[in-house]
Amino acid sequence: MFTAKSHMPSQQVNRRRQLTRLHILLNLTLVACIAIVPCVGHAADRLTKATVGRHAMVVSVSPTATDVGVAVLRDGGNAVDAAVAVGFALAVTWPEAGNIGGGGFMMIAPAPDIEPVCVDYRETAPAAATANMFSGGTNYKGHLVVGTPGTVAGLALAHQRYGHLPWRRLVEPAARLAEAGFAIDAALAEGLNVLVAEEPEFAELQRVFARGDDRAWRAGDRLIQDDLATTLHRIATAGPQAFYRGPIARRIAEEMKTGGGLITLNDLASYTAKIRRPIHGTYRGYDIYGPPPPSSGGIVVVETLNLLENFNLAAHKRWSPRAVHLVIESMRRAYLDRARFLGDPDFVRIPGRLITKDYAQGLAKGIALDKATPSAELAPDIDLAEEGNSTTHFCVVDSSGMGVSNTYTIERSWGSRVVVRGAGFLLNNEMTDFNHRPGHTDQRGAIGTPPNTVEPKKRMLSSQCPVIVLHDGKMFLLTGSPGGRTIPNTVLCVLLGVLQYEEDLMTAIQQPRLHHQWMPDEVLFEGIQRPEFQNLIEQLRHMGHDISPKSRRQGDAHSIHIDGTRIIGVADQRRTTAKAAGW
Ligand code: DON
Repeated sequence: MFTAKSHMPSQQVNRRRQLTRLHILLNLTLVACIAIVPCVGHAADRLTKATVGRHAMVVSVSPTATDVGVAVLRDGGNAVDAAVAVGFALAVTWPEAGNIGGGGFMMIAPAPDIEPVCVDYRETAPAAATANMFSGGTNYKGHLVVGTPGTVAGLALAHQRYGHLPWRRLVEPAARLAEAGFAIDAALAEGLNVLVAEEPEFAELQRVFARGDDRAWRAGDRLIQDDLATTLHRIATAGPQAFYRGPIARRIAEEMKTGGGLITLNDLASYTAKIRRPIHGTYRGYDIYGPPPPSSGGIVVVETLNLLENFNLAAHKRWSPRAVHLVIESMRRAYLDRARFLGDPDFVRIPGRLITKDYAQGLAKGIALDKATPSAELAPDIDLAEEGNSTTHFCVVDSSGMGVSNTYTIERSWGSRVVVRGAGFLLNNEMTDFNHRPGHTDQRGAIGTPPNTVEPKKRMLSSQCPVIVLHDGKMFLLTGSPGGRTIPNTVLCVLLGVLQYEEDLMTAIQQPRLHHQWMPDEVLFEGIQRPEFQNLIEQLRHMGHDISPKSRRQGDAHSIHIDGTRIIGVADQRRTTAKAAGW
């Protein structure tokens, strides 16, 4: 754990914390006001955040990063080129989740009628990691929870296989943004203020992200990241090897050594991103492709859809108690299988039956039509641990019909809080995605099932779920989301909106979302406080569902729908900063 002294006296920190909380409250009120303004169709305006094009589209949480992607496309780059450039740009403009110090999954549909592929650039446990290293409990901050980063290798692998423009052209825009700085928006200002106030003991983080004077960050201020600019220029000119074997690798290894972390030069040099065959499922004539293990995303979504296919959802209204009950019961069962079976496929054997229609048919027989099944009855011995809540998803479509759906993360917002000294970027806390105490499972949140316990070089189980849906071999929908373990269910809700209820993408994204993850045995529902859902909630409770009274927002699912010749990009308003752009 990093132990450098704070530059800030604690009174000042407390004052700053109070101020930032007040700002957050004001901001949330503003966001709520904006969110209830009715949407007005497909115009590219600030309120709907939907944009229609006929050639190409980029959607991401950061307008600046979206613009970087569009410029690459206009320069003759394809969707993978643009996605690589957006990935690097977000590391500068959305540093709470955009990253080069983390990992993720990129789904690529190379061309019409060609099966999508998945680039797995999930972090790995360092070679010195051991199964019991977190038996005494974990802290999500500090050096020990950092996995060997995969982002640079993943973006490079995608580019090497499918890219068109020179690598340097794709990394330089991010380097220039870090060097010249960019005007931050209110959301980033708030995020930075909270971070700086709450983490006084992380000296390098303070050096990079604090303003350096006595006032808080405000919308419109310029964030300049000199060290990150140098790092990105190096990656642009020397290629990904600068990160894994060159000067950046040496800085990471030094940082680990001083802070008591485990990642060595060897871990970095031996990291490899992998091309994997996606999980494929079908639903109502659509082909759904999602990331395979080490992400649970593809399997959870396909298994849930397979379960739902056994019930005639079309016979019930979208928000009828019966339809919602069936969705919850299907989520519950798919998440139980996630806990029981899923982990890094290079280390554990994952049963192929989980995504078959036959298996789902058998499981569906156990679902009572009007009564919740207590999760404890399905498998009384297993429970799940807590997770953080920041990641980011973006999509790109180009004029040749190539599409990219990418989710990447440093786990929590702002990851482990460890900024690599002199290199300007945050490292992930992805090791917390492993099952911490082998053999110990309990009702309060610990899980110790073997598939996802720590092993050297193993990839920790993920919930990230960038999805590509094809219809008759053509690209139809790209979606994904942040949100930790809620991610597959957020994706499922968007898919059900478009594929089952035939809503336009904007409506599907705006609908309130549901989440049940088997344990804890409760339902989260974004509509919990809306008057029109009170009858539904009452009836679900009557069936035995424990609907959490807490109002929790699920992830921002930035998505693209291809409707004939129209390409519709929707920037989810759950993050008001997001932008879809194309032509
Ligand atoms: O890969 C995973 O499942 C998590 N580390 C993702 C974390 C996350 O989404 C936090 N999000 N909002």
